[in-house]
Amino acid sequence: KHFVYIKLVSKIIKNVGLETVCGITSKLPENTKPEVAFAGKSNVGKSSLINALMNRKSLARTSSQPGKTQTINFYNVNNEIYFVDLPGYGYAKVSEEIKAKWGKMIERYLKKSKQLKAVFLLIDIRHEPSGNDKQMYNWILDNGFQPIIIATKADKISRNQLQKHVKMVKEGLKVVKGTVVIPFSAQTKQGRDEIYEVIDGIMKGEGAECEISE
Ligand code: GTP
Ligand code: MG
Repeated sequence: KHFVYIKLVSKIIKNVGLETVCGITSKLPENTKPEVAFAGKSNVGKSSLINALMNRKSLARTSSQPGKTQTINFYNVNNEIYFVDLPGYGYAKVSEEIKAKWGKMIERYLKKSKQLKAVFLLIDIRHEPSGNDKQMYNWILDNGFQPIIIATKADKISRNQLQKHVKMVKEGLKVVKGTVVIPFSAQTKQGRDEIYEVIDGIMKGEGAECEISE
């Protein structure tokens, strides 16, 4: 198992690039390779996670200003898989009209993409999932995906608080049985190996479910 992961990592850093950027009215790409998407509220760390997975410092744009990613960005990884950076929800400074349009755009993508194999939902490990988080979780379920939960910014809590916070996230979202919750930190890269393993399973066509040791 470990060997598989090392192989995947060395593959992953070979060749990455931002291939397609979709705005509200853009046509979605008809990719032929599998896609995995990253959803979550604004500022939760989606772009930072994608950078960590691609082993790039700032290919996916991150910001201390929430609302940075306002498009659906498709990162081509080795011509083998796409990492899809979705716009964050719950950003207060955006008008209701724009929020609704982003919602529609994300929904269209979840419904229409033929290559979308798995959706990762990012939740800040420090806080109870918000109403928007719960809505997004159920929305992803309704679209036929069982989201893999990434509990982000794990470096912000102490190690001995980790399991307590994972439990809080699980209970807050009322996750379906067997849902994987992976604590992750873009700073320390904690959790990255587990995420690679899940992605590896997806690429091998095993679906999103995967045994993760606690
Ligand atoms: P939008 O594009 O606005 O939806 O945000 P995003 O979800 O892509 O968040 P982004 O990756 O831009 O990160 C937002 C802020 O959180 C940045 O200042 C990051 O440096 C910080 N951040 C992201 N991940 C982590 C983490 O694991 N630990 C810590 N301490 N900070 C993080
Ligand atoms: Mg972003």
